Amino acid sequence: MTIVRPSYDLERYRAEIPMLRSAIPMNNCSHSPQTTRTRAAADAYLDSWNERGMDWDGWIGDVEAARAEFARLIHASPDEIAIASSVSEAMSVIASAVEFGGERRTIVASEGEFPTVGHVWLAQEPRGAAVQWVPVRDAKIEVDDYAAAIDERTRIVSATHGYFLNGYRQDLGALASLAHGSGALLVVDAYQTLGTCDVDVKALDVDVLAGGVLKYLMGVPGIAFLYVRRELIDQLEPTVTGWFGRANPFAFDATHLDWAATARRFDTGTPPIVNAAIARAGIGIINEVGPTCIAPWIEALSKHCIDGGRARGLTLHGTDDVTRKTPNTAFLCNDSHAVETALRKRGILASARGPVIRLAPHFYSTFDDVDRTLDALVEVLA
Ligand SMILES: Cc1ncc(COP(=O)(O)O)c(C=O)c1O
Repeated sequence: MTIVRPSYDLERYRAEIPMLRSAIPMNNCSHSPQTTRTRAAADAYLDSWNERGMDWDGWIGDVEAARAEFARLIHASPDEIAIASSVSEAMSVIASAVEFGGERRTIVASEGEFPTVGHVWLAQEPRGAAVQWVPVRDAKIEVDDYAAAIDERTRIVSATHGYFLNGYRQDLGALASLAHGSGALLVVDAYQTLGTCDVDVKALDVDVLAGGVLKYLMGVPGIAFLYVRRELIDQLEPTVTGWFGRANPFAFDATHLDWAATARRFDTGTPPIVNAAIARAGIGIINEVGPTCIAPWIEALSKHCIDGGRARGLTLHGTDDVTRKTPNTAFLCNDSHAVETALRKRGILASARGPVIRLAPHFYSTFDDVDRTLDALVEVLA
């Protein structure tokens, strides 16, 4: 059933986004807008740096609070969360901890992975891994194609939860059953879904999950989070490491390598403190609104965008099943970069990616935002 308004106070959250006074941000698949709360978090760090010179206790407290906020978002424990500077780093740390010798050496990944994830897997080939690609067919990634590729040689099943190009959302529960059925690990890149729907790593039986915060988590670049299922943690010893991965980072002993008992063993160097403070605030907004309340509003906005685009003669790239997609609705166009630039001149932020222009509203968006964007897009394309 399509809803006509969200279950939360939309206007209250819109009032926290100054940019809405002058623009329509429909680029949330790329970067969500600044809020008064995330700005205050950045200011608080800058003030403490300026006034106190350094405040390691307070700053590390901010980092731990961000870890806990992310854990809450995905229904995990803070002990199962590591902090990295990017998804690329998080995936590299995990890849470095997995052995690819012997019979079990295949990594089954889709062609719809964000390039960096594919690159991290390919970089493991000199270590004995062999990457096997699951095709993107008809703009979708089918579970059956994963099933055909997974067998007793599979070490890792790698899945992007939301396809960055057109928002197609994979069925993680089905992929977890397939992976575990043949003794493999399921590693998920959830960058494009976190903040848009409930992602419960326990219910979905995911082994490893990574995501950053600048898209639908209202944050900034320079920080990413890595979930590792509790039972796996002490089996994994990464070769990409640093002093924050130690049992006691402040032992200052270069001659011994031990491992934190928790997922903190996957941390590397000095944490990205200002980014963590902002991330905590951004994820905090999403946790406060609630992913389960956000999801139906995003489905309604997606339906409005798909129906409205088709009615205006636009060609959709990807599924029109709004229960199987992220907020990103992609329309085909010839020169997507030029379209993005022309929309920006009209105060509308969209996101070009190859053959499509991506329109990605978020929990604070309205039907009116979608209509005005589609009208402008038609004008620009004409
Ligand atoms: C699905 C997905 N994964 C990963 C990334 C990027 O990861 P990183 O943090 O390594 O830049 C993006 C976008 O930038 C993305 O859309």
